[in-house]
Amino acid sequence: MIKNLVVVGSGVMGRGIAYVGAVGGFNTKVIDVNEDALASARQEINAIFQKGIDRNKISVEDAEAAKARLQYEQSLEEAAKQADIVIEAVPEKISIKKQVFETLDKYAPEHCLLATNTSTMSPTEIGSYTNRPDKVIAMHFFNPVHKMKLVEIVRGLETSDETAEAIRQVAEQMGKETVVVNEFPGFVTSRISALVGNEAFYMLMEGVGTPEEIDKAIKLGLNYPMGPFELADLVGLDARLNNLEYLHKTLGEKYRPCPLLVKYVKSGRLGRKTGRGVYDYSDRE
Ligand SMILES: NC(=O)c1ccc[n+]([C@@H]2O[C@H](COP(=O)([O-])OP(=O)(O)OC[C@H]3O[C@@H](n4cnc5c(N)ncnc54)[C@H](O)[C@@H]3O)[C@@H](O)[C@H]2O)c1
Repeated sequence: MIKNLVVVGSGVMGRGIAYVGAVGGFNTKVIDVNEDALASARQEINAIFQKGIDRNKISVEDAEAAKARLQYEQSLEEAAKQADIVIEAVPEKISIKKQVFETLDKYAPEHCLLATNTSTMSPTEIGSYTNRPDKVIAMHFFNPVHKMKLVEIVRGLETSDETAEAIRQVAEQMGKETVVVNEFPGFVTSRISALVGNEAFYMLMEGVGTPEEIDKAIKLGLNYPMGPFELADLVGLDARLNNLEYLHKTLGEKYRPCPLLVKYVKSGRLGRKTGRGVYDYSDRE
């Protein structure tokens, strides 16, 4: 019976995963090395609960019960000891993931399942940092987690059928739809999204249209809910560039990051989080 969830990393994704975990009935511990990040996660999660109440998406009683299931802590070692499942959402850097999974393998009980929310990295490689690769899997959530319906579940080479099935049930208990796919760089969604986003930057660089025109064409002509630049600004241009660099290395030339994207990142135009990406948000906050 999976009851105790630990979410490692309380950034953009970790806080959303913690929210859907607590609402789904799991005793949820959110862990971060950074105290400020934890405080800001608590604030944002409480704001999501409040909005949910205001919009009749969740009752006051259910929100209070879910809030009571949430704890915010700094020690991964202590939290891991009680965990049935851990979902890792630390930055997309293999050295950080490695250190986290080695710690988890050391402290989490033998039955504990270990999931990574990586956008692009190999669950097989991440599993190899543990002595339980059959219990390691990627559980790819989407931003904003409380609104996006899908969890893309990606099996590594050694992931067992039991692990994949248990993880699918956990995602469903969190109110999500699932697809279970086999590992290949970029999975399904990151691979397509990176390609579309990169192509949009090439079009902008070539002078095909303004960002507004390109976004409008894709939204209304291809029925995408967001334009590629709106999405890049939301995801973060640095995160997008990271993904592209990884896909370029693993899948080849068609993923070479557009020089204009590289230039934006160098200038600090990282998207909504810095107030400016492709679009300017300085007067919208
Ligand atoms: N942002 C997105 O839209 C998105 C979407 C899907 C998947 N992802 C993936 O999710 C993961 C997290 O991305 P994010 O955007 O939430 O990152 P983020 O930078 O917003 O948050 C990462 C958090 O991890 C914390 N952290 C760093 N090292 C840690 C450690 N050793 N132990 C505990 N906490 C630690 C940081 O303090 C930070 O608060 C990445 O693998 C990313 O590729 C991101």
